[in-house]
Amino acid sequence: MESPLIDLKDISYSYEQTKALDHISLTVREGDFLAIIGPNGSGKSTLLKIMLGLLKPTSGTVELFGVDSKQFKQREWIGYVSQKSNSFNSGFPATVEEVVIGGLAKKAGLFKRIPRDAKKLANDALTSVGMAAFAKRRISELSGGQQQRVFIARALVARPKVLILDEPTVGIDHENVQAFYNMLAHLNHDHDITMILVTHDMGSVSDRITHVACLNQTIHFHGFKEKFETMSDEQLEAWHGHSVRKIHHNGGDSQHA
Ligand SMILES: Nc1ncnc2c1ncn2[C@@H]1O[C@H](COP(=O)(O)OP(=O)(O)OP(=O)(O)O)[C@@H](O)[C@H]1O
Ligand SMILES: [Mg+2]
Repeated sequence: MESPLIDLKDISYSYEQTKALDHISLTVREGDFLAIIGPNGSGKSTLLKIMLGLLKPTSGTVELFGVDSKQFKQREWIGYVSQKSNSFNSGFPATVEEVVIGGLAKKAGLFKRIPRDAKKLANDALTSVGMAAFAKRRISELSGGQQQRVFIARALVARPKVLILDEPTVGIDHENVQAFYNMLAHLNHDHDITMILVTHDMGSVSDRITHVACLNQTIHFHGFKEKFETMSDEQLEAWHGHSVRKIHHNGGDSQHA
């Protein structure tokens, strides 16, 4: 069997005062569409930053594409859109196209030149998220959902094999959330991009994903979505501390936040 794309073994992580992750092991394989879910402060964003090498684990190992994270060079294979990346103030002058071309810097390296076909690459990436018509608009003039798509295009322009998204649907209204998840499913199916998504939105995304990880400092469950759907109320409560069936059925857990 091929190496997993991301393999976390026995990861713990503490901020100065706070233990955020406690002995986490998690494997992501090519083609997976993984939703990471858990209450506020359960360590979801921290876990993504460990995968990305933005934080060094206190203990445990991270392998990326079969290579120890410290030796891993192909950072452009892993695209990332952070939580709250779409908060431009109205004065931000860059155009959509410029923002997307900025995503090539990672691939080109800081001091190498941006490729001559950058505009075409940016346009291809914008097309795949349905935003090509907005290329010349100012990013600050777009809606939150449109900005989020542009950020995904910025991550896609470097042709990643894995896309890691931290709560990308915050600020997107209910009607547009479905279309947004359809777009992610299209990238997963048709562009062979492995997806890792932090979400509070299981009701809307559950048709699209293959795997679920339930996090609350430790991993309470990781496996196929179908298996997650058979978890008992007791198991879910042990993880989340609330009756979380509602997350599942009405697509939001704001009542638990
Ligand atoms: N930079 C930081 N310094 C200190 N503590 C932090 C820092 N970032 C996060 N924490 C703490 O670590 C824990 C995990 O935070 P994290 O941001 O990973 O949670 P999360 O699951 O992403 O939450 P949310 O759903 O609110 O985004 C929390 O207790 C948080 O207060
Ligand atoms: Mg977070």
